[in-house]
Amino acid sequence: MANILLTGASRGIGAAARTALVAAGHHVIGQSTAGSDGLIAADFTAPRAADALWAAAIVAAGGRIDVLVNNAGVFEDAAIDDADTFANAWGRSLTINLQAAADLCRHAVLHFQANGGGRIINIASRAGHRGDSPAHWHYAAAKGGMIALTKTIARGYARDNILAFAVAPGFTMTGMAADYLSSRGGDKLLADIPLGRVAEPQEVAETIRWLAVEAPPSLTGATLDINGASYAR
Ligand SMILES: NC(=O)c1ccc[n+]([C@@H]2O[C@H](COP(=O)([O-])OP(=O)(O)OC[C@H]3O[C@@H](n4cnc5c(N)ncnc54)[C@H](OP(=O)(O)O)[C@@H]3O)[C@@H](O)[C@H]2O)c1
Repeated sequence: MANILLTGASRGIGAAARTALVAAGHHVIGQSTAGSDGLIAADFTAPRAADALWAAAIVAAGGRIDVLVNNAGVFEDAAIDDADTFANAWGRSLTINLQAAADLCRHAVLHFQANGGGRIINIASRAGHRGDSPAHWHYAAAKGGMIALTKTIARGYARDNILAFAVAPGFTMTGMAADYLSSRGGDKLLADIPLGRVAEPQEVAETIRWLAVEAPPSLTGATLDINGASYAR
């Protein structure tokens, strides 16, 4: 049984991962912005929110965390013709999608070094490799940053038995994707996915479960794509 800190556990991919991990017998310490349903509240736009979350999670876990899953994220439009909108979107995106994950990784690495090792799973995006729409420069940049962060941790701390993996989903049927699919015309998007459909949250959740407890150590540093071959690298 592993103690797993999972961010963004209230909805979508995170809720599916919580269900899969609990069903497999693990103790999930989950987070959401509001913190209902047994989750710890942490809004990553608040200063040092990730630090406070880590401290609360350590207490909830009884002093030992084995796995960190950075899954919380936002996908918001930013037009390039308005400087304030553009700057605000970049600030929010980098803070929530990248800085909070990095802060939690910092705690996790220090904790794992003192406790014989552990695993980190960062939920990035196909956008981190392929790029995104003109309204989402910031999102692609944050997710590309997350992939680079993951590789850096994998290379830097493998000797301490600390493993780091990234997951790069394409469109996944959650609230985050549903708005985009309806606004952009679902049919056109589906035509770009050889599998003929977007991913289900349960498919990403199963990948998270496998990486958290089963994936062989030599996989460390890898990014697993889940995109129906819409972007095969
Ligand atoms: N869905 C996709 O198509 C897709 C594709 C590629 C990558 N991803 C990535 O997969 C991850 C999960 O996506 P999803 O579609 O499952 O998202 P979602 O359904 O929109 O859920 C987002 C999660 O992040 C939390 N969150 C949002 N803003 C936050 C903030 N300011 N501080 C702390 N937590 C916050 C939410 O908590 P509350 O419920 O409290 O708001 C929620 O638990 C994200 O990192 C996303 O970028 C998704």
